[in-house]
Amino acid sequence: MSKNILVAVAWPYANSQIHVGNITGSYLPADIFARYHRLAGDHVAMVSGSDAHGTPVTVRADAEGTSPVQVYQKYHHGFLELFQKLGLTYDLFTSTHTENHFRVSQDIFRAIKENGFLYTERQLQWFAPSIGRFLPDRYVEGTCYLCGYPNARGDQCDQCGSLLDATLLIDPHAKTDGSTPELRETEHFFLDLGALEPAITDFLNQREHYWRQNVLRQSLGQIEASGLHGRAITRDLDWGIPVPVEGWQGKCLYVWFEAVIGYLSAAIEYTRLEGKPDEWQNWWFNLDAKAFYFIGKDNIPFHAVIWPAQLIGAGVYFAKFFIEEDNKRLVLPYDVPANEFMNMQGSKISGSRNWAVWGLDFLSRYDPDPLRYYLTVNMPESKDTDWDWTDFVRRNNDELVATWGNLANRMLSFSYKHWEGCVPEPDELRPEDEELLGTVEGGFQTVGEHFEAVRLRAALGEAMRLATEVNRYLDRCAPWFEIKSDKAAAAKTVYTALRAIDSLKTLFAPILPFSSQRLHEYLGYSQPLFGEQYTENVTDSLGEHTVLRYRPLASHPGWLPSRLPAGQPLLKPEPLFRKLDPIVAEQELARMGGS
Ligand code: MF3
Ligand code: ZN
Repeated sequence: MSKNILVAVAWPYANSQIHVGNITGSYLPADIFARYHRLAGDHVAMVSGSDAHGTPVTVRADAEGTSPVQVYQKYHHGFLELFQKLGLTYDLFTSTHTENHFRVSQDIFRAIKENGFLYTERQLQWFAPSIGRFLPDRYVEGTCYLCGYPNARGDQCDQCGSLLDATLLIDPHAKTDGSTPELRETEHFFLDLGALEPAITDFLNQREHYWRQNVLRQSLGQIEASGLHGRAITRDLDWGIPVPVEGWQGKCLYVWFEAVIGYLSAAIEYTRLEGKPDEWQNWWFNLDAKAFYFIGKDNIPFHAVIWPAQLIGAGVYFAKFFIEEDNKRLVLPYDVPANEFMNMQGSKISGSRNWAVWGLDFLSRYDPDPLRYYLTVNMPESKDTDWDWTDFVRRNNDELVATWGNLANRMLSFSYKHWEGCVPEPDELRPEDEELLGTVEGGFQTVGEHFEAVRLRAALGEAMRLATEVNRYLDRCAPWFEIKSDKAAAAKTVYTALRAIDSLKTLFAPILPFSSQRLHEYLGYSQPLFGEQYTENVTDSLGEHTVLRYRPLASHPGWLPSRLPAGQPLLKPEPLFRKLDPIVAEQELARMGGS
């Protein structure tokens, strides 16, 4: 039975480039999971987009002397290029700066308001007359009123570690231009998390299956420790989504409040672009649908607590005026498999210090599958991990090339050479051949279960273990000797190995799609394994935005063991992966300014 799977992927901030930590944290695991489910025949909607609004974008625009639209579009286009090169198959990668997203966000706001989960409150906020703007807390610096530290941020003091009340800072100055701000009164909408707390606690306690320990600890732990309190969901800002209430001109929805709504609005935009404008409901109003959220650990409270609160708060009211049906509730997260962080050569990744490996820069020198391999084998699923260039080269050479690439290449070349470019005709297989095929075919169960449970490292480890089994089998049968005395026996060995390799190709495909596709062609198949990525320009009342899309195959090859036809013509094989010179590690470190 095919399932509806929403693959909801963190929306990258459109004010900086994407590095390997971001990729392994959320974008890559989401793609692997989506590709697995597509192979298995499920209905996948993998959606995300650029997180385009908020103060960081306006601050960068001021610094660069451009406009927020230009800043967001510049980074957005970089994301589209990276995701295509890395093969991240978003059904839709859009942006929060679209008419559709504005409308859906405002509708969710209205629904929550109508249901009584919003209230307003007046408060004092720093205002910078020099730029004519209110300043978010972390853009005001001054002396800590608790410990006297002179460089405290409005939200937090890095010396005494206290969370601060920004209005009490001594000698405040704006981080943007050093000017002295003044306190002004302003009014905001608050999400009444206190009133929603019982429903959120129920949601967290009733989850249907295993959640990662850190996700639960951070969500339930926070509620148990201090309870939930109202949070301001509007800001004094002009770059964003206007608050849809009379008299609230000049204020916007807080970016965190609206960005998460993107998971819903992007599904709506996606099926509309497909020409099936109601189908988003299969993922959003269908209680059998499962929604998985791929995010980094810094985003856990927003996805496991606040976003569910928004969905519960919108309640049936959203459906009532959005599709004129009054008994439908939005689907809550099924799993939030948040990852920990990846460090860089033993210390924290830092974009501003260029202590990072940037996705696009990496792909200008290396292929995508070695990156996907290293970031999966080293994925921070349960603890922080470390990017290490020496380790990258070693794993590329000793694991990806030696265990898997050479296995495929050796057998394809051998068969191509000795059986006139075709898969050998084996006749009856021997017990040892059947045994190997049985072992490898068992992988569709074991590897599949790991994928389903988002244990991607384990899935890769199991597929690699099976590749090692095939290597052992070949060491035992040694077809390069067999062929000299008994070509019929060699034909059985080579056929068996090729068929095992054909199965392994599918087991590896979600993680290593580019090399699996090439291998698929070398094995003589003409139907592709996956659909195609493409970009499209969409025009709406806010202007034009380019989106990344995915055209799925009409029929999927299936998560199924190989039935490789004997005699099938092969394509002349080439190595799947390149061995890297160990000097690469030193060169790359030097490039980062390390040593
Ligand atoms: N842009 C934020 C981040 O990268 C938030 C991502 S998830 C969202 O950390 F859904 F809220 F956008
Ligand atoms: Zn302090």
